Amino acid sequence: MAIDKKFIDQFINVTSKAALASSYLIGKKDKIAADKAAVDSMRNELNKIDMRGEVVIGEGTLDEAPMLYTGEIVGTKKGLNFDIAIDPVEGTNFVANNLPGSISVLSIAEKGNLFKAPETYMNKIATGKIDRGLIDLDFPLKKNIKNLSEFKNKDITSLTVCLLDRPRHKKIIDELKELNVNLKLISDGDVLGAIYVSQPKYGVDMFLGIGGGPEGVIAASALDAYDCHFQGRFIFDNDKNMNEAKSMGIKDLDRKYDLNEIIKGDSIFCATGITNSEILNGIVLDQNNYTSETLITHKSSNLKKIIKKKNLIDE
Ligand code: FBP
Repeated sequence: MAIDKKFIDQFINVTSKAALASSYLIGKKDKIAADKAAVDSMRNELNKIDMRGEVVIGEGTLDEAPMLYTGEIVGTKKGLNFDIAIDPVEGTNFVANNLPGSISVLSIAEKGNLFKAPETYMNKIATGKIDRGLIDLDFPLKKNIKNLSEFKNKDITSLTVCLLDRPRHKKIIDELKELNVNLKLISDGDVLGAIYVSQPKYGVDMFLGIGGGPEGVIAASALDAYDCHFQGRFIFDNDKNMNEAKSMGIKDLDRKYDLNEIIKGDSIFCATGITNSEILNGIVLDQNNYTSETLITHKSSNLKKIIKKKNLIDE
């Protein structure tokens, strides 16, 4: 069943207001306060929407997070059942340090259609639309690069690969340097990192590497609307993670997930810029008004666009 278009504006309002709330903390060197402001706002606004939404990806377990914890039911509890993945501030360091790249983001699907991701790392790979079987998380890096270069009819040296700049990626970075691929190393924010592959104008041919699992699911829901390729495998390397996975019903801890196993059916994805990025402008305050930019996708209506809105601050 398609998710009614009437929800689009309501969810844009949720991420826009969360971004606004967090924007007051830009450059205040306090990532916890920046996150809390967005969480409070997001919860408040979600609770005004006529739906019964289960937070499947949230701020953590109930012990860790009193608000928007995984399993919390949000909305007026009247109306349709949804699964909701939220990240009120993706890129908390960017807000705290007044750097580009922070967004407030959520994604919804009908009940049972969004993967309940544990709070652990995920090894990910994403590209634009490709032929089936061409790129695989389990192929050697060189094979994936060669296959993409042939498919895109682009020289290997003109391909750009985006990944988080982390010591754990040293081997991959060295190998990519060896191949003379262009690197785009990001310091945080791998939801946007993955979304760069969705359109040629962002100049990224492949996204890969290890980042947050919840962020992987959220990115996958945006990439689904663009028909992109995405695969992810959770990394369970301690007892806490393994027990959490088992309690969530994940039996095969080494399983590789394709995009259509992470998100199914119709979905809405909203990401509003807090600070500027290559994709979205951040919040602009002007007396009693604020302007926000939101990347919105609605799979069933093939909606994929950036919506700029000017709203009254106390609206
Ligand atoms: P926060 O906004 O929660 O701080 O996450 C930022 C982020 O860079 C994510 O985009 C990414 O998935 C994750 O942290 C990577 O984790 P780590 O910093 O441990 O490598």
